[in-house]
Amino acid sequence: MANDKPVLRSQDWFGRKDKLGFIHRSWMKAEGFPQSVFDGRPVIGICNSWSELTNCNAHLRQVAEAVKRGVWAAGGFPLEFPTISLGEPFMRPTTMMFRNLMAMDVEESIRANPIDGVVLLCGCDKTTPAQIMGAVSAELPSIVVPGGPMLKGRWKDQEIGSGTDVWRFDEERRAGRLTDAQFCDIESCMSRSAGHCMTMGTASTMTSLAEALGLTLTGCANIPAPDSRRYESAHRSGERIVEMVKENLTITKILTKKAIDNAIRVDMAIGGSTNAVIHLKAIAGRAGIDLPLSRFDEISRQIPMILNCSPSGKYLMEDVYYAGGVPAVMKEIVHLLDGDAITCTGKSIAENVADAEVHDRDVIRSLDNPIQATGGTVILHGNLCPNGAVLKTSAAEQHLLQHEGRAVVFENHTDMLDRIDDPDLDVDETCVLVMRNVGAIGGPGMPEVGNMPLPKKVLAKGVRDMLRISDARMSGTSYGAVVLHVAPEAAVGGPLAAVRNGDRIRLDTANRKLELLIDEHEMNKRLREWEEPEPAYDRGYGRLFLENVLQADEGCDFGFLKGKGSKAKLGLPF
Ligand code: FES
Repeated sequence: MANDKPVLRSQDWFGRKDKLGFIHRSWMKAEGFPQSVFDGRPVIGICNSWSELTNCNAHLRQVAEAVKRGVWAAGGFPLEFPTISLGEPFMRPTTMMFRNLMAMDVEESIRANPIDGVVLLCGCDKTTPAQIMGAVSAELPSIVVPGGPMLKGRWKDQEIGSGTDVWRFDEERRAGRLTDAQFCDIESCMSRSAGHCMTMGTASTMTSLAEALGLTLTGCANIPAPDSRRYESAHRSGERIVEMVKENLTITKILTKKAIDNAIRVDMAIGGSTNAVIHLKAIAGRAGIDLPLSRFDEISRQIPMILNCSPSGKYLMEDVYYAGGVPAVMKEIVHLLDGDAITCTGKSIAENVADAEVHDRDVIRSLDNPIQATGGTVILHGNLCPNGAVLKTSAAEQHLLQHEGRAVVFENHTDMLDRIDDPDLDVDETCVLVMRNVGAIGGPGMPEVGNMPLPKKVLAKGVRDMLRISDARMSGTSYGAVVLHVAPEAAVGGPLAAVRNGDRIRLDTANRKLELLIDEHEMNKRLREWEEPEPAYDRGYGRLFLENVLQADEGCDFGFLKGKGSKAKLGLPF
């Protein structure tokens, strides 16, 4: 499997006898490294998405120290380097706009430097796919070490989960059932340790899928951030990457079609974030793997959701880890996986999870007692979304999965915020809320705003869910009957642009259909009248993004970033 003879690329920097070798070694000696580290040992880059502006990753400098210990212990030479980082709560207009920028930074930082293998330190939502995308294109041996989820939140006698309970408490406050003082009190009780969101949001989903892909050590993904085992696992990952370099076990040998299928299966079993669809598409695109959107739906029909974790279930990530974590989930469905897929451990995924055990049967269910009989995410098609849309059925009120209602249309996010609580808005709980111009181009950046708040007057009736449709994404911590990623998006003339107030819309989840109930002639007439909006940016990275981003059904990567490797020779700097 991993038997190609390794050629240490770092030797072209540090092993030289000429002037360049002098320069490369001399400038490293400026950091206090002795001559002995240039003896041909593997140089391990530790790609750190640490930032105080990415609170979920703010402890990754400590994690990096544990990785370094492992690298030194195994006879490697660790060198930590930063890239841009992406913190969900702060970045505007949305971190999604910068995922590809981070992936470019990761790829080029790896390729341009004297590195033989790389450890990827990630956590917050986009940092995991961005690092994997960049590493796949750079094609070196790579191992992922997530920072781990935070400890559980707790307010009075209630356990509270990141994101999910923010939306819930906000609705309670808007409905007048929670005071501002209580709302503020809860704020201090939710995020009480280092780590990423501890619901099955995008961060927990993508780190769990990194393990399912075979890119982390077994059992690494779900260890809570403050747990000492997080650092032990980081240490062992440092040891393992040195061996991977010696075995020439590159990331593209692990990231095969089988691995991608396994990740989708685990995504369905854990009720993962809808964002996983976009990120896995983008990762597969980097590896040159054809991954039609229909593959998610095929697998969704085969894999029951067995993890009882918020927002689709009851528990939080700390409970998931204590119950056995990703290895125990994979063991439950191992006969449905491609068990021979090779992983960073050098063993197959089936070998990795052979000894895994479930310690709490209410958290990780058996296949004959699932949370939901099929996977948590479905792919819809129809005249409203010819290239697809995504719905997380596990997080929706089930009666809305088969629903027909009257459209209430918002032109964009601002329009929705301005009018959603207007007492004169003609809306009731049977209506379908439609928001457009919030996709990759229209957003711009496809912000996580698809889970529109319910109108106050509907909330006041005690209603907690309505059918909502948009070309946006939503946070993995969100819930509701929310159809997302409608493709093509309205801002490029997709059918969402044709919807008018009062139109009837039908969602038929059983048949994976989303239809605007107008005839084809009327649809075409409306789309001919559509006018392209002004671009949101005319310069800089924003312009690069708008000119190159692919639609949601293609993973929102840049077209020119698909694939791996580089034809360009690494020239010499002097
Ligand atoms: Fe970083 Fe949720 S805000 S993972």
